[in-house]
Amino acid sequence: MKLIIDTAEKVAALAADRYTALLDQKPDAVLGLATGSTPLGLYAELVRRCKAGQISFGRVTTFNLDEYVGLDAAHDQSYRYFMNTNLFDQVDIRKDATHVPSGLDTSAAAASAYDEAIKAAGGIDIQLLGIGNNGHLGFNEPGTPFGSTTLVVELTDSTRQAYKRFFASLDQVPTHAVTMGLKTIMNARCIILMALGTAKAEIVKKMVSGDVTPLVPASVLQLHPNVEVYLDH
Ligand code: GLP
Repeated sequence: MKLIIDTAEKVAALAADRYTALLDQKPDAVLGLATGSTPLGLYAELVRRCKAGQISFGRVTTFNLDEYVGLDAAHDQSYRYFMNTNLFDQVDIRKDATHVPSGLDTSAAAASAYDEAIKAAGGIDIQLLGIGNNGHLGFNEPGTPFGSTTLVVELTDSTRQAYKRFFASLDQVPTHAVTMGLKTIMNARCIILMALGTAKAEIVKKMVSGDVTPLVPASVLQLHPNVEVYLDH
């Protein structure tokens, strides 16, 4: 794992440089994308560079990590809505080349079709990740087997509590989500994980130098040959 540590603003710019380099070299790259507050600085920088004509998403294909079960694209807490608002609607991407798991189709067939679509697109060049306070990647909560592919998962109480702030009350927070599995994530050719703020310090330490165990899903990244971790101090 390569660690890049600087201010939040600088690491967003450095991560954006990686995308700029990739898109220069491979304009039809396949990007794995993430939601959450952490990538907002990176997305803002990518939007700025696109508006300035420095990069184009015109030939890019994207696959998002996850989606809440039960929320449709119009729900302002759905991850499709988040991606449209914070990135897709502001850059020159073709909307039909953007993929977010459906929160409305929880069938096994839909889950395996998502993995198949990633393969058919040629696999993911860079998978962007945040990390949950309990070490989850996407919504792969502690205990998820490392061999998991896209699946429907039940959210832990700690995760639902953490996201309560975005909903009117705890019972409005979805109980399940669809997420790329850990194996789906590990199949990406390169992984960029971003984590900011003191609340993430402990779990980042476990991810980077703790035991490799499903109890800390992000520790699986120690087994990937090409991971860059962008952190603030
Ligand atoms: C949610 C998402 C994850 C994301 C995490 C971190 O749990 N499912 O994919 O990494 O949030 O969120 P934040 O960046 O807001 O801390």
